[in-house]
Amino acid sequence: MEQKELINMAFSAMNNAYAPYSNYKVGACCLVRDGNYFLGANVENASYGATSCAERNAVFAAYSYGFRKDDIVALAIVSNGKTLAAPCGICRQVLSELLNTYTPIILSNGTQTEIKTIGELLPMQFGKEDLE
Ligand code: THU
Repeated sequence: MEQKELINMAFSAMNNAYAPYSNYKVGACCLVRDGNYFLGANVENASYGATSCAERNAVFAAYSYGFRKDDIVALAIVSNGKTLAAPCGICRQVLSELLNTYTPIILSNGTQTEIKTIGELLPMQFGKEDLE
């Protein structure tokens, strides 16, 4: 799947965002090795902390289908904001465990696109090996 197509799929997921509180809609598309992809949108809650972010939902969906970090080819994250949807701190922590450090994370708001890795977005990560 081309980068543009991945971004378009993330935008289609963004339309399903449930964001009545922030009105900030985010969509994500997690592409796996066999060409399958998993979509995610942010789903908010009146108890704000119970909100689930788009990129976590997409990557959790891929894991729920049995895919693992080595299967994930790329992750696109898009928003309806003026700036690029930089993943929040909790998502960076989650992505640091569930993606490879070099997996491309494509950020787009429709006009601007940047490709990052979780190694760049979250340096000096806390992970599994710290607990051993
Ligand atoms: N949000 C995401 O879905 N991903 C991020 O990484 C940034 C924040 C959502 C959560 C909430 O529904 C809304 O954006 C405003 O914070």
